[in-house]
Amino acid sequence: MTQWLKNAIFYEIYPQSFMDANDDGIGDLQGIISKLDYIRELGCNAIWINPCFDSPFMDAGYDVADYYKIAPRYGTNEDARQLFDEAHKRGMHVLLDLVPGHTSHLHPWFLESMKAERNEYTDRYVWTDDIWNAPEGFATLRGISDRDGCAVTNFFSTQPALNYGFYHITEKWQQSPEDEGPRKTLEEVIHIIRFWLEMGCDGFRVDMAGSLVKNDPDSLGTIALWQKVRAFLDREFPDAAFVSEWGEPDKSLMGGFHMDFLLHFGPSHYNDLFRCEHPYFARDGKGVVSDFVKKYVENYTKTDGRGLICIPSGNHDMNRLSFQLDEEERKLAFAFLLSMPGAPFLYYGDEIGMNYLKDLKSLEGGYSRTGSRTPMQWDNSQPNAGFSRAEASKLYLPQDPREDRPAVSTELQREDSLLNEIRKLIGIRQSHIALQNEGAIRFVDTGREYPLAYVRSAGEERILAVINPSETEVSVKLPEEAVRCLYAYDGKEVTWDGDEAAVPGVSAGFYLLK
Ligand code: NOJ
Ligand code: CA
Repeated sequence: MTQWLKNAIFYEIYPQSFMDANDDGIGDLQGIISKLDYIRELGCNAIWINPCFDSPFMDAGYDVADYYKIAPRYGTNEDARQLFDEAHKRGMHVLLDLVPGHTSHLHPWFLESMKAERNEYTDRYVWTDDIWNAPEGFATLRGISDRDGCAVTNFFSTQPALNYGFYHITEKWQQSPEDEGPRKTLEEVIHIIRFWLEMGCDGFRVDMAGSLVKNDPDSLGTIALWQKVRAFLDREFPDAAFVSEWGEPDKSLMGGFHMDFLLHFGPSHYNDLFRCEHPYFARDGKGVVSDFVKKYVENYTKTDGRGLICIPSGNHDMNRLSFQLDEEERKLAFAFLLSMPGAPFLYYGDEIGMNYLKDLKSLEGGYSRTGSRTPMQWDNSQPNAGFSRAEASKLYLPQDPREDRPAVSTELQREDSLLNEIRKLIGIRQSHIALQNEGAIRFVDTGREYPLAYVRSAGEERILAVINPSETEVSVKLPEEAVRCLYAYDGKEVTWDGDEAAVPGVSAGFYLLK
């Protein structure tokens, strides 16, 4: 495992909305540089920036038009180099966002591939050989040029799929991953990776990493592809970190990724915790954690020793934690997020409890996601809360209009704020190896949904975490008595009577074991 990942704690930045340094109303790289000290003081030592490459922004930058160029609205490649340097000076690392599955439909490669005449980019994308032959199970772009065929898309209609071949070939227009077109696509991706790593970037979060090879039900083709990338990285950039958006850690880690994200869709039960009718972390105590634990243990068992599973506080694709959980409930959620294995990922603004703006009009393909993408609230200054000095009407998205919206400046001062609780939790995590990314985990079977209890361990150190989001005190059997309490939310500690333990309602605690 890359050394710096062992205690990395990430902060995800949606660059549009973080900090605007040149007052045009949209965040930029110089803005990020100006806030590195803030992120570091929060306790995060690494950042992930959503795509910041040239793009028509029909999916917020996940539709790349030039992989080698920072989007002018964010600055220049020189600014990126400066960002890497400034981060390194502070002992921090930077992940960029690699989107290998598709490009913008306006990418010059796609424009070339649309031509009827054969050229270098004819096979860069997945095309059928006949406009009337729309393949089953795939969305396509059709009738858009003289080329006789349909182009398969990967996500929105503006995102044609790059061609990495088909694992099972069932039609004559389908290519194998070993054919020249797919091989050239992969070569280009490796070239892009090398370009940014050479400039000083420390790795990538990889978008839809499991989507590359088509007709690949067990992902064997896609795993083999990533193993080639892994071999290249081992040779040239062994310290670079690779984190996948895949949602199946066993597959992703086999492909050579260091970590895989749990996703808010698919089989992980991640949503049971924070985003469903009865979130586990809500005080009403009607949540269910056991399905999550079962799936987590299943994945953990398959991946133990090979890499990590990451649980994010949120991201640019889902509503914010604050949509369903109040501040106290979120504090307990963070006690969980910051005591689990794998590198924690904190979505910008979650640390101050920024709101999800439910009815915001969609921007840049955000739709329901737009409400989680509003400008950061740095202070109480008017009109833009310290995000930008542009006229309010020029902002990328409007600021949260609520009068009581939180801001960094006030949350730092308020002693019992979520922000200060997070700083405290990170401090504890970073001073106990058992709580860090590679520490092992074993869940304690308490025979009920509340509390959630687990033992983290590394070397000689063993720490029991007991979290009871419900407001009801519960009495459970816990394996052994604690030697010392390392953390107790709001001073509420578990009390032992032999192996019976009384766990206060709305509590979270970490306890050192013998
Ligand atoms: C996942 C990204 O997180 C999301 O924002 C994007 O729209 C899709 N992948 C497509 O690239
Ligand atoms: Ca700007």
